[in-house]
Amino acid sequence: MALQFTKSKEIISRDNKVYSKFARIPYYPLVIKRGYGAIIEDYDGNKFIDLLSAASSLNTGHSNPRIIKAIKDQMENFISYTAAYTYSEPLVKLAEEIIKITPGDFDKKVVFGLSGSDANDGMIKFARGFTGKKKIISFLGAYHGSTYGALSLTTLSLNMRRKIGPTLSEVEHIKYPNCYRCPYNCSKDTCNIECLNDFINALSTYLPPEEIAAVVMEPIAGDAGLIVPPIKYMKAIYDICKRNNILFVSEEVQQGFGRTGKWFCIEHFDIVPDMIVMGKSIASGVPLSAVVARKEIMDSLEAPAHLFTMSGNSLSCSAAIETINIIRDECLLKKSRDLGNYAKKRFEDMKNKYEVIGDVRGLGLSIGIDLVKDRKTKLGNRKAASKICYRCFEKGVILIFLADGVLRFQPPLVITKDELKTAIDIIEESIKEYTNDKIPDEILEIVKGW
Ligand SMILES: Cc1ncc(COP(=O)(O)O)c(C=O)c1O
Repeated sequence: MALQFTKSKEIISRDNKVYSKFARIPYYPLVIKRGYGAIIEDYDGNKFIDLLSAASSLNTGHSNPRIIKAIKDQMENFISYTAAYTYSEPLVKLAEEIIKITPGDFDKKVVFGLSGSDANDGMIKFARGFTGKKKIISFLGAYHGSTYGALSLTTLSLNMRRKIGPTLSEVEHIKYPNCYRCPYNCSKDTCNIECLNDFINALSTYLPPEEIAAVVMEPIAGDAGLIVPPIKYMKAIYDICKRNNILFVSEEVQQGFGRTGKWFCIEHFDIVPDMIVMGKSIASGVPLSAVVARKEIMDSLEAPAHLFTMSGNSLSCSAAIETINIIRDECLLKKSRDLGNYAKKRFEDMKNKYEVIGDVRGLGLSIGIDLVKDRKTKLGNRKAASKICYRCFEKGVILIFLADGVLRFQPPLVITKDELKTAIDIIEESIKEYTNDKIPDEILEIVKGW
């Protein structure tokens, strides 16, 4: 029987009257009433398996009882007191833990914020403050957030820039390595990371390396379409940074905290970044972000160069400490790798059956399924993605797409194997129905997407 959305639609029509439209990217009429583990319930009693994890910010699942307890315990002591004027043990404990779980056997320091966006702003300040240089290199198609600093690094959507410039000056964008759509038509065997040549040439023509403070890179380009860079590329760009005294920043807001089967995605590439930017899943859904870097970088600015009243608040820090404990106790890094391998194999098998799947890629439970109009042109198939996501929703699975047709597969790491299997079966049924032209065009009016 088709799901009913009576109460949900009523709430959405009230929402449309009072909430700004620019802050939402509609996919379907989902109004969440409660969540547990990998399951979401709406106001009409419908249940869904969540493959989005609130945009990768709920790696430990919805309303994890241990997170609730940690928050409650802290609330009974005190809710929050600004860390600008006072000290708090949860903040110190969390900073100590973050220093332990991040790569790099050197002295580090941490600063907290409230969103991935403000953490990126802080990172730009520290990079400029420490190096005394102004230029920041970011990647085309990347999403780093909405505040002016983070937005300056972002080049994903015209609507994010329209009418609101100027953004920060001295931010340059280079191409992210994209093996599936390699502009040089290379394969894994013939690749000589030609895609890095534009940057290398720029360094000897118009981009003086001695003026570059930092290269900021997501070790999987998340919202750009979950693109995994080749190890060779990562080593080479890191090497360029080291040779030219440029800081290498791993932007892990989306890929960090176990999402890819390691604490931080950059560990897959055996690279030790100078700075790591984190957010989203760090506190299991409670607002918190952090920048961790070599001690001398973080000590290069004077107070009050970067603080917010609520940064490092005790509730968020307590939730984050428990998040780290859960990831450890429940072996969620291994679980992400194991379930990720299972899911990837299922999608690879589907790729052999359905022409619409052009590529399957990812690490751990961070997987992109790239839907194409045809395998030759590899043009993104937005229509297929919209229809498949909507049909999945109607069948009880929350799935969205990015980058003109890449299905974003990022379930909570606590998802059970049975739930995962059911969700993947539903994705396959929906792909089959799309292939058999069983999904009506009307849904294209509802699904707006990125
Ligand atoms: C890689 C990345 N960086 C930064 C951000 C911004 O984080 P926030 O929305 O918490 O400001 C996002 C959000 O989607 C992201 O995916």
